Amino acid sequence: MASDGTGALLEVRDLVKHFPLTQGVVFRRQVGAVQAVDGVSFDLRRGETLGLVGESGCGKSTVAKLLTHLERPTSGTVRYKGEDITRARGRALKAVRRNIQMVFQDPYTSLNPRMTVGDIVGEPFDIHPEVAPKGSRRARVRELLDVVGLNPEYINRYPHQFSGGQRQRIGIARGLALRPEIIVADEPVSALDVSVQAQVVNLMERLQNEFDLAYLFIAHDLSVVRHICDRVGVMYLGKIVELGTDEEIYEHPTHPYTQALLSAVPVPDPAARERRERIVLEGDVPSPAHPPSGCRFRTRCWKAQQRCAVEEPLLAVPEPLADTAPDDPAHHPSACHFAEEREESPAE
Ligand SMILES: Nc1ncnc2c1ncn2[C@@H]1O[C@H](COP(=O)(O)OP(=O)(O)OP(=O)(O)O)[C@@H](O)[C@H]1O
Ligand code: SF4
Ligand SMILES: [Mg+2]
Repeated sequence: MASDGTGALLEVRDLVKHFPLTQGVVFRRQVGAVQAVDGVSFDLRRGETLGLVGESGCGKSTVAKLLTHLERPTSGTVRYKGEDITRARGRALKAVRRNIQMVFQDPYTSLNPRMTVGDIVGEPFDIHPEVAPKGSRRARVRELLDVVGLNPEYINRYPHQFSGGQRQRIGIARGLALRPEIIVADEPVSALDVSVQAQVVNLMERLQNEFDLAYLFIAHDLSVVRHICDRVGVMYLGKIVELGTDEEIYEHPTHPYTQALLSAVPVPDPAARERRERIVLEGDVPSPAHPPSGCRFRTRCWKAQQRCAVEEPLLAVPEPLADTAPDDPAHHPSACHFAEEREESPAE
């Protein structure tokens, strides 16, 4: 178990990343900020998969980069087993990086084309020789290839000699090399053919059981993460707007944005399709440099009222549902003043 009181491996609190917007060449001055991530909080528990879902530009990759120390946060904290690692440097950073690994979206561009598979998968051992002493590295790499379902005989091949799905397996083998506890997977199957996506998701599930991994699994589509996630956070314009177990989010969503996203997920059963009404969101996602006041979703929300423009809804069990029993599936954090389960279509 984790050493802290909550049992969480990773505790993320009020994480903020603003990218400065500058103007001028000689006299560069800041004229604003892109609020890519603006107050994100969640826990990641040992061995669980937390999905992070939302439209393009809502800040998913920025969260991933903050957790893997590829970006530094503007503010907020990240605790790993109770220890503040937000601004870790030197040896502490090295240790954290070993335990929190990243798998990238695009297996076509994230692998160096001039390196052999053996060198790609074994590269983390250069930084952490203690994990695999020199003489044992090739054997370790062959074992890793085998674990992800690739022929160990391919160790001297180059990335272009593999298919997209195989390349993502190479990326996963590399992510596993240092035996991390957490893998942050930033849209690991989005660039793959639909037929291959399930194979890679299944592989990740198997590896999770085998190595007791916790995943932060990022996707832009709720249907991709359904199968693998224990819990899901839905993001909109730099914030998590709803957070719950897979049952709470998929069967009992209370935030209008989640309801809209789910209404767009294809349903195989024709009878269920008939009953369900699609919510078509009007307008575009506003710029994260100028997010709307109050609730950021209000410019596209069919339920918006005056209060939504002046009062920001916080991510908590919302007022209208506060009286529901704690084990009621509607009783979960949702950042909406008027959160409720949806019974009728917005057009009615
Ligand atoms: N280095 C940067 N400098 C300035 N703005 C940035 C930078 N990185 C990201 N952004 C902006 O921050 C916002 C969030 O970007 P991010 O890549 O995190 O979104 P995302 O949810 O991963 O999107 P996608 O689904 O397209 O991958 C976007 O508006 C993006 O343009
Ligand atoms: S707070 Fe208001 S604008 Fe925001 S999601 Fe709820 S009803 Fe819509
Ligand atoms: Mg992204």
